[in-house]
Formats: sequence, structure tokens, C-alpha cells
Amino acid sequence: MDKFVIRGGKRLCGEVEISGAKNAALAILAAAVLADDVSRIENVPNIRDVRIMVQIIKEIGATVRYINKNTIEIDARTVQFTTIPDALTKRLRASYYLIGAMLGRLGKARVAMPGGCNFGTRPIDQHIKGFEALGVRIVTDSAVIDAKAGQMIGSEVYFDVVTVGATVNVMLAAVKARGQTIIENAAKEPHIVDLANFLNFMGADIRGAGTDIIKIRGVDKLVGCTYSIIPDQIEAGTFMVAAAATGGDVLIKNVTPKHLDSISAKLIECGVTIEEHDDCVRVIGRGRPMKCNIKTMPHPGFPTDMQPQMATYLTIAEGTSIISESVWDNRFTYVDQLMRLGASVQVEGKAAIITGIPELKGAPVRADDLRAGAAMVIAGLIARGETEIEDIHHIDRGYEDLVEKLTALGASIERVSIPDPVIDPIPAVTANVG
Ligand code: EPZ
Repeated sequence: MDKFVIRGGKRLCGEVEISGAKNAALAILAAAVLADDVSRIENVPNIRDVRIMVQIIKEIGATVRYINKNTIEIDARTVQFTTIPDALTKRLRASYYLIGAMLGRLGKARVAMPGGCNFGTRPIDQHIKGFEALGVRIVTDSAVIDAKAGQMIGSEVYFDVVTVGATVNVMLAAVKARGQTIIENAAKEPHIVDLANFLNFMGADIRGAGTDIIKIRGVDKLVGCTYSIIPDQIEAGTFMVAAAATGGDVLIKNVTPKHLDSISAKLIECGVTIEEHDDCVRVIGRGRPMKCNIKTMPHPGFPTDMQPQMATYLTIAEGTSIISESVWDNRFTYVDQLMRLGASVQVEGKAAIITGIPELKGAPVRADDLRAGAAMVIAGLIARGETEIEDIHHIDRGYEDLVEKLTALGASIERVSIPDPVIDPIPAVTANVG
């Protein structure tokens, strides 16, 4: 087990290079299974979720070769299995992307119900609705999803809610269905567009990605290609908030500024200076931020995956801010940890009322999930004194070289191993003699 130890109060200054997008990489790695030869994927973030997805792809028979830590070659010609080991699917929610990919490649898939961050119910009814529209026979129980398809036939799919996962999954199946599939009320996140671009490089025929109507004409064959993953919108946003919160001056490189519009807009409302360039943004913080209200929405709205980080920043605002979480049922569990640092936050259903205070005070906290963990890191950077963060394996899922990147910007953060507590074995029972 490891923990982070952070000494707060250091202004972040300098330059940081953003890694490839986790949520694009997970979808694109699954999509590579559809190719009839080798794909070379570049700018892949070297993070735990990606390593698990790579392991899953190897388990179904693909041949995977790391060219370097951020470049992977996948030869899907050897894919032959359609069942994914439960141990892996429970550690990675996006493992369910292999349902769409294996339906597209082999016409069947058997996957355990997915795991993932726990912020409320995470149903998959829209995935199932999409697959069944394509003629797939789905049998599910509480533990397993069993999908079988003869020849999938393109169809119209209207999502009742905007869902990234179901949009990805139906795209992965529909690219090999016969005829046209129209996905309505589709997710528009940058990683949806990245997936569509990758699939089109492979020979798919997808139009409209990035809008709420995606049209897919099925093809018989998809070939391997070389493709570079887009920069991670959420990692970039996390560093933008860290720079602002520490009153720093940071040039955040290898980003797509357009993907950061909603985050930049909110930081500017807080009084932060943002300079946008072609592939980088400069963030110049100020002292305490001005208060601001946020409502998380599907893209292009303010991303839910940036909600904990912004809430942490607003704990030291001048005034009271309100954050409404419209995507997930229960994404404020990290507030308990913020209050251990002295924050004043009242959670009312799917809203948090944040009364700004002059400063946080370092204390031991834990990472409840990936983005809650990122929020604790930001809290530690701004709190007075020392903050220790446990359960940082959640953070390792989605941030590459976080300690190195923050240290290079002047942060005092280190990863410390915590030896497992020694628990004496039950003493051997000695037979009573006599
Ligand atoms: C993806 O999760 C991301 N994960 C999440 O990021 C992100 O929070 C989420 O999209 C929203 O942007 C990956 O891309 C791997 P959804 P996903 O399906 O696909 C409801 C991170 O920090 N819904 O868009 O699971 C659902 O309950 C992670 O990187 C249904 O009702 O999210 C939620 O309220 C955390 N039925 C809403 O839709 C369904 O069948 C959005 O979920 C599917 C979803």
C-alpha cells in the first residue's frame, strides 16, 4: 500500500506535459480488437486502467507489444476467446467495451458485470437497448452479461440518457453491422470523437461524432492503422485547477484548448487568468478565488470528472458557491474528506453548498475514487502543513507520473510505502497434555 505525503503552500510554476486521454485510450484499445491486422496506438497514457485493458485484450488472444511506455502495437488476428476473466472486469468498468468489440469481431461476448468508481448506481440498460436494437440476444443476471449475435443489422437507437459508455459500445458493434445505424442523443465527449476518428482510420464509415446524432454504415472489414490518442481533457483540467489554487503560473502543454472551454470559463469566473495558445494553455492563479456556481453536464457542459477538483478549489473562495451534480447520483462522498481539512461544505441531495474559508489545514485523508483522489491532491497542495492521502491506487488509475509532474512544478509531494500491518498468526494450538 502507498500513500502521498504533501506539504502545502507551494506555488506551482513552470511547464507540464499532459498525457494521452484515459477515456479515449480505453475505448480505442477495445476498438483495435476489430482490426484484421496490426494497429499501432501512440500517446497512450501509462496508467493502471490502460494496463488492465491491455491485459484483458491479451486474455482474449490478441498479441500486444509495447514499443515504449506510451506506444502499443495490437495484432487482433489471434483474438479467439469471447469470455473475459471476472478478476479483470471487476477492476475496470470499461472492460464492458469488449462486448461491443467482440460482437463486432466474433458475434458473441461473455463479460462479468463491470466494476468502476462507486458514485451511485451505474446501470447498463442503455448498452443493452443499443445491442438489442442491432439484433443481439442479451442474457444478463446480477453477475454476467451474455451477448450473442448472428449478423447484426443496423438500426436506430435513441438513448434515454446521454451515456458515454453506451455510445462507445454501440459504435463498436455497429461498425460491423449490415446497413446503417443511427445513434440519437449520443454522447459528444472528445473521446467519442477520438474513437470515431480511430475507427474511420481503420476503414469504418462513421459521421456525426461530436454531435448528438451519429450515423454508422457497417463495413465488412476493418484494418489496422497508426493513431495518436488525444490529450487528456481531465488531466489538463486537474492541473489547471492545481495551478490556480496554489496561486501559481503554469504552462500546460499538449492540450486541445477547445476541449477545456468549460473549465477555462469557470476558472475565469473565479478570477484566474487563462492564456490560450494552439496546443497549450497558461494558467495564472490569484489568491483566494471568487465564488462561482457550477452545474455538471455532458460535454460541452462542465465535466462531471472535474467536479471534485473544482469543489476543492472553491473551499477557499471568497463567498459561497453551489455545485450541482447532474450526471451521477452520488458524487460528493469526497466532501467528508474535505471537511477533515477544515472545509465548510453542506451536501443537499445532488448539490454541494460550499462556504469559502481563508485556508485548509493539512490532515490525513483518503482517496475514495479516481477524481476524488485528484481533489485530495489539490487540497493537500493548498492546505497549510502536511496532508497524507491513503488509497492512492485510485489515483494511479488515471494520472501518469503525477508525483514527477507536480514535483517538477515545485510541489512538495512524495509517494511513501506503507508496510501492511503485522497481524500475528493464530498461535499453533498445543494439545493439552496431562
Ligand atoms: C464515462 O463513464 C467515464 N468513464 C466517466 O469517467 C465519466 O464520469 C462518465 O463517462 C460521464 O462523462 C470512462 O469513459 C471509462 P455514462 P460511463 O454511461 O460511460 C447513466 C473518470 O473519472 N446511464 O456516460 O460509465 C449513468 O447512470 C470516469 O474518468 C444509464 O442510466 O458513464 C449516469 O447517470 C469516472 N444507463 C449517466 O448515464 C446506462 O446504460 C452517464 O453515464 C448507462 C449510463
